[in-house]
Amino acid sequence: MKILAIESSCDETAAAVSENGRTILSDIIASQVEEHKQYGGVVPEIASRRHCENITRVVDDALKSANCTLSDIDAFAVTYAPGLIGALLVGTSFAKGLALSTGKPLIPVHHIAGHIAANYIAHAELEPPYLCLVVSGGHTQICEVLSYTKFRIIGKTRDDAAGEAFDKCARVLGYPYPGGIHIDRAAQKGDPNKYKLPIPKVTGSEYDFSFSGLKTAVINLAHNAEQKGEVLDGDSLAASFQKTAAEMLTEKTISAAKELGYKTIAMAGGVSANSGVRSLLEKECGKRGFRLYMPPLSLCGDNGAMIACQAYYDYLDGKRADESLNALATLSLEDI
Ligand code: KG4
Ligand code: ZN
Repeated sequence: MKILAIESSCDETAAAVSENGRTILSDIIASQVEEHKQYGGVVPEIASRRHCENITRVVDDALKSANCTLSDIDAFAVTYAPGLIGALLVGTSFAKGLALSTGKPLIPVHHIAGHIAANYIAHAELEPPYLCLVVSGGHTQICEVLSYTKFRIIGKTRDDAAGEAFDKCARVLGYPYPGGIHIDRAAQKGDPNKYKLPIPKVTGSEYDFSFSGLKTAVINLAHNAEQKGEVLDGDSLAASFQKTAAEMLTEKTISAAKELGYKTIAMAGGVSANSGVRSLLEKECGKRGFRLYMPPLSLCGDNGAMIACQAYYDYLDGKRADESLNALATLSLEDI
């Protein structure tokens, strides 16, 4: 079964064709990051307009690169939630047009379920159930992947998402948006033990995260150094921040897996590209005998392939959208 999927939830216009879920025949991404960089973050209206301009070409390229025409496609899929509403509306409207004009099914896909599914593309043996650490620009969650289409969130951030904290720290260290990759690179040159940063205590739910205290500590260190005219060791501050964030994410994920009896752990979302988080999680999982799955770097960020893969499992589960499909800025993984 061939599915053409569209992803436009943030600043990447993406389309891909999957064959029976895990085989990806094409994966096209038009990134707007260079344009948003000058504003220090994604400007929603600009994102919507660029999606509108790019989507026809991106979908056409995805078909061509899969050696397909519309008549070879069995179903269409689209990210309908969560994300920037204007951006999502472009993808959903375009996908509805394709489904209506061809009379083929339309599958609505949750963006975070897509991030998780990126692992299925790279790891043929991975099957639910398992525990997944989701770390993106907008989400930080530990969730039980009960089946391909059923999820239970057991912990989440109380304030900033991990990616947001990386981006804000990067900004104060003088790096452009999106800053996660710059923190990652700087961290490799710095001393991770130079600055002592706080690990915030979160009361109530033991698997919830808080990143705002850690982020504020980095911002205060940078501002105080500036006010005193001191030269800040930016690489070491980046390394210290990254090490602390990696410890927070790794510790809670492993203790949740232990407590709930999972032997398999996966990671998903843009921040799963982070070398510090990857290596600490890998080391700790290795020590404790957990199997760890991570997406390849090429599938960590937003892409159409992950949506095309998840769409197959959603299709098998009977999920369909009709012409009334709407986009939603927020929607929990548990409510799909
Ligand atoms: O999943 P994603 O592409 O988009 C959302 O769904 O939010 O995640 C984007 C986030 C950004 O905050 C970006 O800075 C972060 O992922 N990111 C990284 C790295 N690469 C991307 N954060 C830390 N280290 C990286 N290497
Ligand atoms: Zn994403």
